[in-house]
Amino acid sequence: MLVASSLTGDLIAVAVALVTIVIVYCKWTYQYWARRNVPYFQPQIPYGNHKKTLRGKEHIGVSLAKIYSDMKHKGWKYGGIYIFTKPSFFPTDLDIIRNIMTKDFHHFVDRDVFYNEKDPLQAHLLNLSGTKWRNLRAKLTPTFTSGKMKMMFNVMAECQRDLYKRMDKECEKREPINIKEILACFTTNIIGSCAFGLEFKALEDENSEFRKIGRKMFTSSRWLRWKRTFSTTFPKVAKVLDLSMSRPEIAGFVMNMVEKTIDYREKNKVTRNDFMQLMINLKNNKPTNPGDHDGKPLTMDEVASQCVVFFGAGFETSSTLMTFALYELAKNEDIQERVRNEINSALKKYDNQITYDSIQDIGYLNQVIDETLRLHPPAALLNRKCVKDYNVPDHDVVIEAGTNVTISVLGIHHDEEVYPEPKKFDPDRFSDENRKTRHNYAHIPFGEGPRNCIGMRFGLLQAKVGLVSLLQNYKFTVNKKTQEPLFYSPPSIVLTVQGDVWLNAQKI
Ligand code: HEM
Repeated sequence: MLVASSLTGDLIAVAVALVTIVIVYCKWTYQYWARRNVPYFQPQIPYGNHKKTLRGKEHIGVSLAKIYSDMKHKGWKYGGIYIFTKPSFFPTDLDIIRNIMTKDFHHFVDRDVFYNEKDPLQAHLLNLSGTKWRNLRAKLTPTFTSGKMKMMFNVMAECQRDLYKRMDKECEKREPINIKEILACFTTNIIGSCAFGLEFKALEDENSEFRKIGRKMFTSSRWLRWKRTFSTTFPKVAKVLDLSMSRPEIAGFVMNMVEKTIDYREKNKVTRNDFMQLMINLKNNKPTNPGDHDGKPLTMDEVASQCVVFFGAGFETSSTLMTFALYELAKNEDIQERVRNEINSALKKYDNQITYDSIQDIGYLNQVIDETLRLHPPAALLNRKCVKDYNVPDHDVVIEAGTNVTISVLGIHHDEEVYPEPKKFDPDRFSDENRKTRHNYAHIPFGEGPRNCIGMRFGLLQAKVGLVSLLQNYKFTVNKKTQEPLFYSPPSIVLTVQGDVWLNAQKI
């Protein structure tokens, strides 16, 4: 009895000591921006400025956009925030943002992400830092030129057939259509075809292996979110604990698929116009493009990890863009009619064929896409890590090496000083005339500078193929099953809708 009570006493003492240490550590850490004379909002132990996000109540992009707006109202050109206990420099001034992302990029080459070097599939372009990133980016850049996109266009266009088939089937049922799911299947098929040279058949079977893996990639459990935040905040501790962000079921599946595909092509001397072929060429030959790289061929692990990131970055971002575009067009039928008319008249010049050239020629469609990416940017925030102390030009502040920088894309895109009535969907904001009146960095859905999205052309092309195919053939309205106003799903990595988006589609 006596032993038990003394043990309980000891445990309580240890718990009190631990809590005290955490509180003292947080209080000291939360002085960081005050010590550097940078304005900040009061953080809350232990969440910093991210209580709602870390508790799974709000998408991080939404929390950051609120911080952006609050800072702008106070007239701050930058401020300091805390994500958990990690300080992050938070610029709101577009000139400062431009300098960080482009002009002074050499101070901000890395992203502040943690990955375990023992996980070969995590060593991809999004995660890598320093020279490793530079080498790989230089080798992969020629893979995404407009010439390569043109070459891949036919592979992409073949996926339209399955989209029509599925849509016709859905229209016959005369029931609301879950457009988010259909588009996720469509882009899963495209990336399967273009990156792996395989028919994923997600439109025929929503429970196909590939669609299941895609779903898993973009849903993270609360445990995984905490692990990611902890590892980025305390990378040294995470390294000692050998924490890994890899998910074995996804990694194993992709690795197996890549190995089998490469083996088949090499044994049977099959070549195709797709990413996989470009990767195989980079694996078997020295990169020929002159550039800032080490000149070594890619290893098998490097090929596989790029395939993981192309699969991950490639399908959810573009299907989200198309889902929001169709939702906004379904709500604004006059805009829908206008874009449909422009599509039809542009394609007339090309015998009504959807080709690489015909699809580039539809100016108003580009405006619709730009406005959708403004209103609902799939990547709501950008992240950089300062690698060399940086004196912010014209301001009395130094960003120390090792400090994280967060840029709120959603905040900038919803800034009422730049975009009056920011919640209104208005593609005319992107007419040539209106575009010229704004700062270049007021619209950054693909990031900016040397570390911007390498797959931008591919993402835009697949979105255009999908939207043109659908708008030419079907009229859309919003079905009441859609939960409005839309709410961004808190645990999603991409800024996507919570639940489904249900539309009525009528064949034209
Ligand atoms: C609508 C579609 C897409 C959007 C909105 C989007 C957005 C972004 C953004 C915002 C970044 C970070 C840029 C920065 O930090 O400055 C990024 C990086 C990246 N994206 Fe995309 N993306 C899209 C499609 C794609 C596609 C289709 C691929 C590949 C096939 C892709 C591959 C990548 C890669 C590999 C990076 C990392 C680049 C680097 O660090 O060097 N993305 N993307």
